[in-house]
Amino acid sequence: MKILITGANGQLGVTLQDVFAGSDLVLTDRDELDITDAAAVDNFVAVTKPEVIINAAGYTAVDLAEIEKEAARKINLGGGENLAAAAKKYDVIFFHISTDFVFDGEKTEPYLETDKPNPLSVYGQTKRDAETVIEKVGGKYFILRTAWLYSPFGKNFVKTFVKLGAEKPELKVVADQIGCPTYTYDLALAIKKLLTADFQLPTIFGLYHFAGAGECSWFEFAKKIVELSGGTAKIIPQTSYEYAAGRDAVTAERPKHSVLNCDKIRKLGVKTPVWQESLQKCIEILKKENN
Ligand SMILES: NC(=O)c1ccc[n+]([C@@H]2O[C@H](COP(=O)([O-])OP(=O)(O)OC[C@H]3O[C@@H](n4cnc5c(N)ncnc54)[C@H](OP(=O)(O)O)[C@@H]3O)[C@@H](O)[C@H]2O)c1
Repeated sequence: MKILITGANGQLGVTLQDVFAGSDLVLTDRDELDITDAAAVDNFVAVTKPEVIINAAGYTAVDLAEIEKEAARKINLGGGENLAAAAKKYDVIFFHISTDFVFDGEKTEPYLETDKPNPLSVYGQTKRDAETVIEKVGGKYFILRTAWLYSPFGKNFVKTFVKLGAEKPELKVVADQIGCPTYTYDLALAIKKLLTADFQLPTIFGLYHFAGAGECSWFEFAKKIVELSGGTAKIIPQTSYEYAAGRDAVTAERPKHSVLNCDKIRKLGVKTPVWQESLQKCIEILKKENN
């Protein structure tokens, strides 16, 4: 199967390269294919003729997006639209990754795909607008809303707290935001599983939630990371307000409770591993790398 991966150097992109290693991969990042360039995207898809496009590219700096609004919009919305349009035109299966930050976090139960989005941040709004435009373009698309992604690659919360947990005596971490830590390998395997689905069924394409099973606060997540990695830092809870007040830079507002209900995707046979178990796997890899 020929698969075009955009954003192939990002943490999800690198994971996808590994998980789909046996496939015919066309790997692109910003230098090879700028997804904001509609003509370039159309031409690239026409020439390379992939059967599947996985869009792992994105503007992911949630706080900075409050300032760099246009850049975030161009990449997340414009890029998503360009790829969706090319996928539709050339009859290619299209995977797009969205986020739990499309929700405002006011719901106390896990969010369903049918719940009304109400993003609190510029990043969340650009991701929501991309969902809307991809649904409008139509075609054979999957939008996978995921959350709190981490991996052994690039920069992420787990890597940061493995490092800081070994260096600092104590670390303050936000305790009033609850979500679902998600391992990029679990997400990549979910995409792989979806590629075995029966694409003759018209109902198969559309919007799905995919996240690690269970839920926790950033504080609980950090505690588990430090515990599993053998760190010594004491983890101290703080509020979102205290966190934002202690930073010089702008802090985007984040949902207080953005747990995703993943029953819809599980019904397709996709596994959503428990977040603590996946975290352990990631930390084992990081430990090996550090030895
Ligand atoms: N990280 C999370 O916690 C999280 C949570 C929920 C959903 N998501 C979504 O999951 C997806 C993957 O996230 P990630 O954490 O793997 O992201 P990431 O590590 O930040 O990687 C994103 C990649 O996209 C590339 N990119 C940016 N602009 C581009 C452009 N115009 N054309 C082509 N490539 C471009 C980046 O290149 P540069 O480095 O040069 O910018 C980078 O290699 C994104 O859609 C994100 O919104 C992430």
